[in-house]
Amino acid sequence: MATVLYPGSFDPIHLGHLDVIEQASALFGPVIVATMYNPDKPGGMFTIGERKAMIAESVGHLPDVRVEAFTGLVIDAAAAVGADFIVKGLRTSGDFEFELQMAHTNESVTGIRTVFLPTSARWSFVSSRFVREIAQYGGDVRHLVPAPVARRLAELPGHTSRTTEQP
Ligand code: PNS
Repeated sequence: MATVLYPGSFDPIHLGHLDVIEQASALFGPVIVATMYNPDKPGGMFTIGERKAMIAESVGHLPDVRVEAFTGLVIDAAAAVGADFIVKGLRTSGDFEFELQMAHTNESVTGIRTVFLPTSARWSFVSSRFVREIAQYGGDVRHLVPAPVARRLAELPGHTSRTTEQP
């Protein structure tokens, strides 16, 4: 058994993320999901606190999973929780190059290694970015996100104002 850290922006968590969390929990045991601020993605739809709350509701069926919010470096978050490994999900080969570079960089600094888990093919096309984009225009994303996220997205201003009218 190993303790693993699964870091990400999770803005918001979607079913591909949940699949990786479920896989990691079954393989390793304790999983700490770390909601992180990504310096490459300023702004965002939800606050870190909102993201953390939605993740916590979405993983309620997994007793070995807990959710934390961190700022700063993933390696520092991993050290803070005593993680043995960082876990990252890979949807397609498109994710691989950048994730491998981050994994090697992180390992070079503190020695912590990253384990890649392929996201189930069923969710390999899902991204938080497109979930946000569709939801902002009032589209239906209930098949892509856990129910607590779908409920929260449905409360967004403008959710019911989707229109096909041209400007
Ligand atoms: O879900 P994302 O946006 O792909 O998650 C990326 C995240 C937050 C894990 C990444 O941006 C990150 O590692 N941020 C913290 C800063 C850090 O550790 N930088 C060093 C990378 S080698």
